[in-house]
Amino acid sequence: MQLQVAPSLLSADFLHLEKDVQMLNGHADLIHLDVMDGTLVPNLSFGFSIIEPLSKVATAPLDTHLMIVHPDKYFARFAALGLRMLSFHLEAARQEGRDAGEMLREIKALGPQAGLAINPDIPVEDVFPYLEDADFILVMSVFAGFGGQAFIPETFERVRTLKAEIKRRKLPCKIEVDGGVGLSNAAALHEAGVDIVVAGSSVFKSEDPAATIAALRG
Ligand code: DX5
Ligand code: ZN
Repeated sequence: MQLQVAPSLLSADFLHLEKDVQMLNGHADLIHLDVMDGTLVPNLSFGFSIIEPLSKVATAPLDTHLMIVHPDKYFARFAALGLRMLSFHLEAARQEGRDAGEMLREIKALGPQAGLAINPDIPVEDVFPYLEDADFILVMSVFAGFGGQAFIPETFERVRTLKAEIKRRKLPCKIEVDGGVGLSNAAALHEAGVDIVVAGSSVFKSEDPAATIAALRG
């Protein structure tokens, strides 16, 4: 299957968001939205006041990445926006002492595809118990919180390990990689087993974002 590209709006021009969404509508496979709470991750981003109006102008499917504690408080409200994909961090489930599998099933019952995200310091094997419940695993290739960070090369090994386990168990679970992805590593990530790449700065800081999206797809 062709690599899917999910540009992250975190690197877009927030004074002209509609313009960037229109561009993505015509060119992106998905639009990646990063929700941060300053607690699970050391930064704040945006919430419903941005995502609600944006969901009305976006025709490309939305992929929302929750980097917040107690993400389950908001699953229903996000799902009501008609998102295609919704992910939360395993670290957040652990902090509130909840079973991540149960949380993934909650998301699916509400409509969106359910994703489990992990930061680079979480052993990739920690998601193995949830591969039946997850529609996708979001493997962070930088520490969640900021755009524009350098890709962590160990991600390749983590993706290969995860892909091998998914194949061994013949599961439909997809792999999404997020952080520091650009033209220098997208094709190799696809080769390693990645289905979806998130790309913030490499798309929005490029001269021709639409052409960069196409080039990332390969
Ligand atoms: C980081 C976010 C990413 C970020 C990626 O915490 O989850 O989605 O926007 O940005 P780049 O592609 O610039 O690393
Ligand atoms: Zn993200």
